Amino acid sequence: MSSSAQTAAPMSSSSSDRWPKVLALTIVLLIAAGFVLRYVFRYYLHFNEAAFTDPMRGAANYWRMRGWLLLHITSGMLALLIGPWQFSRRLRQRYLQLHRVSGRIYVIAVLCGCAAAFRLAAGTTFGKAWGVGLACLAFAWATTTLMAYYAVRQRQISIHREWMIRSYVVTFAFVTFRVFNDYPPMMNWLPEADRSNTYVWVCWAIPLLITEVILQLVRMKGAKPAGVRAKQGVAHS
Ligand code: HEM
Repeated sequence: MSSSAQTAAPMSSSSSDRWPKVLALTIVLLIAAGFVLRYVFRYYLHFNEAAFTDPMRGAANYWRMRGWLLLHITSGMLALLIGPWQFSRRLRQRYLQLHRVSGRIYVIAVLCGCAAAFRLAAGTTFGKAWGVGLACLAFAWATTTLMAYYAVRQRQISIHREWMIRSYVVTFAFVTFRVFNDYPPMMNWLPEADRSNTYVWVCWAIPLLITEVILQLVRMKGAKPAGVRAKQGVAHS
């Protein structure tokens, strides 16, 4: 990460650079939309106690906390579906005002989603280990997003970009959790009793670590010491 304040991202990118990113963002959006259709809409479509009872584990705690759950899933859905658009350089360059407005909606959605997540985690009927795991996830969600917001307020655009990537990786963690917990092959690796309490940590700790490695490698590539660059220049001449 460069320490100097930047006010604008690099302007041009060739179409060969762009397509892998467009493809990756499209896949992320499609998976996010699939998650929303499969796991979120049922609560809007069937507003009754039976529908608010977790089909996997049977406890009707969501009905007792339905206000919090509705706040949580509506905010989570907004953050999940807005997030990928924020990474489009084209949209940013062409519609900067829209990027700013949707960015603010993203931050507010995450903060509302987090407040509700803490309440849901405190009231969960699925055990303390699960509740603590989700509360820590909520803490990571708020921290990464607030860091992204603070960086942009300081006009540190490249730092803002990096924290937004971390923030979205955490936003996506609940989707990752469902993929690991509910579908093979990850679903089959652990006995049911251990599965959710393990994957509630794995779903964000490992993606965040991989993200960090990639961010640091990109930073190292862009900031080679002057001596190394000079040597490479000699070698190439
Ligand atoms: C990444 C941070 C997140 C945290 C910490 C978190 C936390 C929680 C908690 C504590 C619960 C209640 C679990 C229980 O009572 O045992 C819950 C349920 C739920 N959350 Fe989140 N959540 C997060 C992100 C999201 C996102 C982005 C969505 C997308 C809409 C979402 C959708 C849901 C849904 C649909 C449920 C109900 C359970 C289910 O049907 O899967 N969550 N979440």
